[in-house]
Amino acid sequence: MKILFYNHTGQVSGAERMLLMILSRMDRQTFEPFLVCPPEGSLTKMAFQLGVKVEPLKSLEARFTWRVDHLLLYVVSFLKAMRELRRKVKNHQPDLIHANSIRSGLVATAATIGLKPPVVWHLHDLLPPHPISSLIRLFAALSGRSVMIAVSAAVARNFRGRLSSPLNERISVILNAIDLDKFQPDHFSKRRIRKELRFREPDFVVGTVGQITPRKGQLELLRAFRVALNESPNMVLLIVGAPLFNRDHEYLDTLRSTATKLGIGNKVRLLGARNDVASIMQTLDLLVVNSKAEPFGLVIVEAMACETPVLAAAVDGIPEIIQHNENGWLVSPGDEAALAEGIVKLSRRPEHRARLANRGMQHAEAHFSADRYLVDLHAFYRSRLKKLGSQSAESTTRVTEVAEVA
Ligand code: GLC
Repeated sequence: MKILFYNHTGQVSGAERMLLMILSRMDRQTFEPFLVCPPEGSLTKMAFQLGVKVEPLKSLEARFTWRVDHLLLYVVSFLKAMRELRRKVKNHQPDLIHANSIRSGLVATAATIGLKPPVVWHLHDLLPPHPISSLIRLFAALSGRSVMIAVSAAVARNFRGRLSSPLNERISVILNAIDLDKFQPDHFSKRRIRKELRFREPDFVVGTVGQITPRKGQLELLRAFRVALNESPNMVLLIVGAPLFNRDHEYLDTLRSTATKLGIGNKVRLLGARNDVASIMQTLDLLVVNSKAEPFGLVIVEAMACETPVLAAAVDGIPEIIQHNENGWLVSPGDEAALAEGIVKLSRRPEHRARLANRGMQHAEAHFSADRYLVDLHAFYRSRLKKLGSQSAESTTRVTEVAEVA
């Protein structure tokens, strides 16, 4: 069975790491995957290393905006990507298209109007309150050929919006997973990285790992960390990740200048992107995730699997992974005082920390393994293909009608 994976960007962030995990583990006896994505960024090379065929396609420029001139540019970019993808689908005749984001799903569904293959939208994002979000929901609801995998129940709820009825049974939640062979406790690597980064023995290493972008709340974390240092001075903060999109380079500059202004420049290390994230997770004494919105939060599961305790904001998908004071520590989103307090509390209670970390590891092993994921995904493909096969005649007509109205 031929599966065309389409990713609208070539940059690698959480959604692409999930895609790479799927590609590396997929049952190649039954499924023949190939990837279509823009050549810019490291996705092409990484997929290629997994022995997956990759074909380039123009990068899709499309963001939520209120600016009409930008919207027009995005529409043009969308139409181009759509045309190119349609050509590829006609050439390759895949049995199914797995579109790895909401944007990819939109392009793929629109590109294949009148063609046969079902389109799986892999929902890794939350739709913001915006009229375009309502249009996306409507389009998805009207396309009977499209089904969705949501990375958390929070994402499923958000995507459904108020249009519950038509989308309800077409969205399945498959919680993300990680490669447990890669993420596991490793004291040797912990020592090596601490040495490389020249930490002193008593340093308590707090870290945050993810794209540098306001949504991840690194700026607020810096401020909370400043407060926490008053109580627990032997701490350092590692900020791991790089700006990838939009104007996030400016945000990185703000993080740097804020650390200096707060007088904690020597306590904060901005490491940039690392390709040894597992070693970083093994090194941290505490992972902090201070996101303002988080569809899932792969880094949480990665840290848990390494037996690293996690302190996170209870937002969107995160409470589906962490149970407060059971396998991690949750604080209300946006509450800097609670964040600072949480850091201090956990830094001072090694036994409590170890207990949470140990339960976290067990939780990750039991619920977030790649093996479990691939079983769920294969079953999803099979059941959907069966169902969609029998519906395809009817839904093609419906989507064609929508296209004509649009
Ligand atoms: C996106 C989301 C993140 C999720 C990842 C994988 O990057 O922002 O929360 O973990 O996709 O689904």
